[in-house]
Amino acid sequence: MNLDRMRRDVEDPTIVGWGRMPQRAERSEADTIERISLRGTWAFAWSPTMAEGPWGETEVPAVWELNGYGTPYYLAFRYPPAIGKDGRLDPHDRPTGIYRRRLDIPGDWAGRRVTLRFESVKSAFHLLLDGELIGYSEGSMTGATFDLTDRATTGSEITVVVHRYSTGTYLEDQDMWFLSGITRDVWLEAEPAHAPWDIVVTTDFDHVENRGSLRVETDAHVQVHLGDDLIAEGAGSLEAVDLRVSPWSAETPILYDLRVTTTADDGTRDVRHLRTGFRRVEIVGEQLRVNGRPIVLHGVNRHDFHPERIWDVPADVREHDIALMKAANVNALRLSHYPNPDQVYRLADEHGLYVMDEAEVESHGVRRRGIPGDDPAWQPSVLARVEAMVRRSRNHPSVIMWSLGNEAGDGEAFRAAKRAVLALDDGRPVHYEGDTTLTTSDVYSLMYPTPQLERRIGEHRDVRINLIQKLFNKLAGDDKAFPAARYTGRPVIACEYAHAMENSFGNVADHVENFHRYPNWAGGFVWDWVDQTIAVPLKDDLVRQAYGGAFGETPTDRWFCANGVVAADRTPHPAYDELAKVYQHVVITRTPDGVRLTNRHSFDDLTGRALCWRLERDGATVASGQVKDIVTAPGASREVRLPIMPVAGPGLWALMVEVGDTAWEQFELARIPATGFSEWAAVDTHDGAITSLRFGGVEFLSSPLRLNLWRAATDNDRGLASFAPVLTPLTGVSAWRRANRRARPYRSDRGRSRWRVRGADIRLAVEATDRGVRVEMWAAAGRRELVRAGLTGTLDSRFDHVEWIGRGRGENYRDRCSGSPLGRWSRSVEEFPHAYAHPQENGNRTGLEKLTLTGGGLTLTVRRIAGNPFEASVRPYTQEQLAAAAYADELPATGPATLSLDVAHRGVGGDKPGDLRLQPAARLARGRTWHTAWLIEGMTK
Ligand code: GAL
Ligand code: MG
Repeated sequence: MNLDRMRRDVEDPTIVGWGRMPQRAERSEADTIERISLRGTWAFAWSPTMAEGPWGETEVPAVWELNGYGTPYYLAFRYPPAIGKDGRLDPHDRPTGIYRRRLDIPGDWAGRRVTLRFESVKSAFHLLLDGELIGYSEGSMTGATFDLTDRATTGSEITVVVHRYSTGTYLEDQDMWFLSGITRDVWLEAEPAHAPWDIVVTTDFDHVENRGSLRVETDAHVQVHLGDDLIAEGAGSLEAVDLRVSPWSAETPILYDLRVTTTADDGTRDVRHLRTGFRRVEIVGEQLRVNGRPIVLHGVNRHDFHPERIWDVPADVREHDIALMKAANVNALRLSHYPNPDQVYRLADEHGLYVMDEAEVESHGVRRRGIPGDDPAWQPSVLARVEAMVRRSRNHPSVIMWSLGNEAGDGEAFRAAKRAVLALDDGRPVHYEGDTTLTTSDVYSLMYPTPQLERRIGEHRDVRINLIQKLFNKLAGDDKAFPAARYTGRPVIACEYAHAMENSFGNVADHVENFHRYPNWAGGFVWDWVDQTIAVPLKDDLVRQAYGGAFGETPTDRWFCANGVVAADRTPHPAYDELAKVYQHVVITRTPDGVRLTNRHSFDDLTGRALCWRLERDGATVASGQVKDIVTAPGASREVRLPIMPVAGPGLWALMVEVGDTAWEQFELARIPATGFSEWAAVDTHDGAITSLRFGGVEFLSSPLRLNLWRAATDNDRGLASFAPVLTPLTGVSAWRRANRRARPYRSDRGRSRWRVRGADIRLAVEATDRGVRVEMWAAAGRRELVRAGLTGTLDSRFDHVEWIGRGRGENYRDRCSGSPLGRWSRSVEEFPHAYAHPQENGNRTGLEKLTLTGGGLTLTVRRIAGNPFEASVRPYTQEQLAAAAYADELPATGPATLSLDVAHRGVGGDKPGDLRLQPAARLARGRTWHTAWLIEGMTK
C-alpha cells in the first residue's frame, strides 16, 4: 500500500492533494451526466494506527466512531490528543479506515469521461485503483473528484484509505464533533468526453438601466440559451448584455433557466442547466448593497449537521431548515465554517437567502502558534481550500460574500487567500473576521459585540479592548482594538452574535435595532441554527441527545455543541419564536391615534399586504378590523389610523397588530385585576413555608410551597464552569442555592415571614380570606443580584393541565419575550417545560395575570390582585431533579406538577458565548423592589 508515501502525504502540510480534478460547479440532475450512487455496504478494515485492521463491512456514508471504531470528540477550540500543538501528528494515534468495493461500470460508458466523486471524506484519504495509488485529498467538506476515464473497467476495485488525522485536521478545528470516515455520498459519474470540465457564469444587474447581463466562460465552443433565447455562442468568454430580466434578491428570488450546450463533431451534445439570477453586490461607502439598495443581514450561522446521519444531511431536512428560516424572517445564511453541498446553495437561490460562503479554514487551537499565519508551509492548504470554495459555488446568485475562514489567526496566508479568491471571482466582497489590520476583509466583522459596542461603532468611536479580553484572546477570544479611522469607510457586520446555547438568546432585539439604526451596520448572523447533538438510542424507545462526554471520552467541551435555535431534530427551541419576531421586516410602533409602520425591506413595498388589528381581552378578541392598503416604500415609514376603543372591566387588555403573515406587534393597554371565587380555604404556614393549602377540605399540595431564590443553572449561569466543572460551586447560582437551603426567616408570625438572604430582603404574607388564600411577596436585592424570588412546591398529583393569561405560548424570560405575545394559552403539565439537551432552568412564562391548573376535578387558580405581573413555571419534576439531571432523557416525562411562582426571575443573557452578561433590564439588581399579591382560589368539583 506504499505506506511511506501515504505517511508523507498525511504529515506534510504542503501536500494537500494530488491526482484530483480541479473543483468545479456541480452539475445538475437535468444535465448530460449519468451518476451511479455508491451509497451502501463496503468492505471495511479499521485500525487505530496506520495499519490494516481486520476486515468487516460498513455503510457508506457514515462516521466510523459512531459504529464502534474509535472515540468521538467534541471540542470547541481545542484538538483531539493526537494533534500536536507544534503542527506534528502523534505517530501512534492514527486511526485509519480502509474501504473497498468493486466498480460496475456500464458498458455504454465507453468513450465517455468517467469520474469518481467523493462529496466529503474526513479528514483525508488516498484512492487506489486496482491496487495502484492514484490520488490523495485533504479538505473534508469540499470533497474530491478523480478521473477514471480509460483507467477503470467493470470489475475494477477501488480502495479508499481514510485517515482520521492529517495536517488538514489543523485547519478543521471548527467547533464541531471530530468524527471521520466517508461522510457523504460517493458517485460514479459519466459525461461526454468533450464536455467542458467547468463553466463559469457571472451575472450582473444594472438597477439604473434595469437591465441584466451575463458572462459565460468556458474552454469549449458553446451555445448559451436564456429560456428559449439563444443569447451567446462561441468559446472563451461570452457576454450577453441588455437583458430584460427582473433582478434577483433575497426578497425577490427570481431565477432564469440557463442552458449551455456543447456539441461534438459527431453530434454528441453536452447540456448544462443552471438556474441563474441577475444581481449586483457591492460595497458603496459604508453600505453593503444589492442592486443598488442597502441591505441588512438578518442572518443565521448554520452547520450542515444531522443528529443521526451527521454530515450526510437528508435533502428534506435541508429543505425544512430553509423553510423554517424563511418563516422566521431570516434573509442571510453563513455557511459556518465550511462550504456546503450544492443543494444548500440551490435552496438559497430559489427561496431567497444571501449566502456568506466560508472556506474550511479554522485553526482555532493553534492559530496563536502561527498556523497558518505567515508560514509558507501552511499556505498551500489555505489556498486550496478557498479556491475549492469559489470554484464550487461561484455560479450561485445567492452567494454574496466569500469568507476566507474562521478563527484562524491572521497573516500572509489570508492576504494570499484574498488574491486567490479575486483571481477566480471579483464580483463579491471578501470577509474575514480574523483580519487584525482590516486590510484583507472588505467588511469590518466582529463576533459577539455587545449592544454598547455596536453603538460605539455606529457612532464611529474608537474600539478598545480591556485586559480581560486580551487574556481571553490568548485562550479562545478574538477581540480586536481599532481606532475609528481604521474601520470608518466600510460596512460592519457581526459574523456571529446572540449565542443561542440552550436556554439563552436574551436581548437579541437590541442588536437588531442597532443594525437598523446605524447606516454602517449591515447586520449579522445569529450563532447558530441547529444543535450539534448526536441521537443515541437508549432502552424503552428513549433517545439521548448526546453532547460532548456522552461517550465517556475526555477531553470534551460538553454542551457547547448545543447552540441552535432549533434542536438537532429540528424541533424549534423557544429562541426560534424570538428570532422570528426580532427579524421581522416591518416594525410597528404606537402613535396617539394608531400605529406607525416602518418597512425594513430593501425592495418589497408591502403591496398586497394588509394590516389586521384586534383588541384582545385575556387573549380573546373583542373587536377587530383591517386596513387594506398599506403600501410603504422600502426603508420608509407611514402612519395608519386605527379606531382606538376605551377598555372597560377587568382583564388583560392588549392591541394586536399584524402586517401580512410575518410581522406583528402587540401593545399592552391595561391590566385590571378581577376578584375570584373560591371554595372555603384554609392555609398553614411553618417557618416561612406554606405547608398546607386546602379548599373545601381537600389538600392541594403534596409538598410545601417554599421560598425559592435559585434556579437549575443555565449554561450561561455556569459561565466558565461549563469548561471546568470544578468551578461550579463558585458560580452565583450555586451560592444562591446554598443560601436558599440554609435560609430561615428571622421573623415568622401568623403567616408573615421575613428573610435576609445574601443581602436580599424578602417578605411574605399569607392569609386565608373568604375569597381564597391571599399570598403577597416583596423582594429587594442587596449587593448581590437576585436570580429569582418566589415560591416553589409540588401539587397534588391529579393536576395535569395548565392554562394561563400572560406571555406564551412557549417559554419566555424578561430578556427573551418579544416573540411571546400576551394571551390566553394552555398546555398539559408535561408539555409546559422545554427540554434542553443538557437539562437546566426552563419553561418560564412572564407577564402573568392568572394561572390555572386543573385535573381530576380539582381547579387551582392563581391570580394577581396587586403588584407587578408575575412569572411562573409548571413542570412534571422538581427543581432538584432538574439540577441533578445530565441528559434530558433522565428527567421524568410525567409526574406531579411542581409549581414555581415568582415575583421576579432574571433573564437568560447570552450576548457572548456561555456568558450570562445580562443587560440592565434583565437583572434583579439593588435599587428595585418586586412585589406581587396573588389570590389563590380552589375548587374541588
Ligand atoms: C465562535 C466560533 C463558533 C463557535 C462559537 C461558540 O467563536 O466561531 O464556531 O465556537 O464561538 O459557540
Ligand atoms: Mg472556533
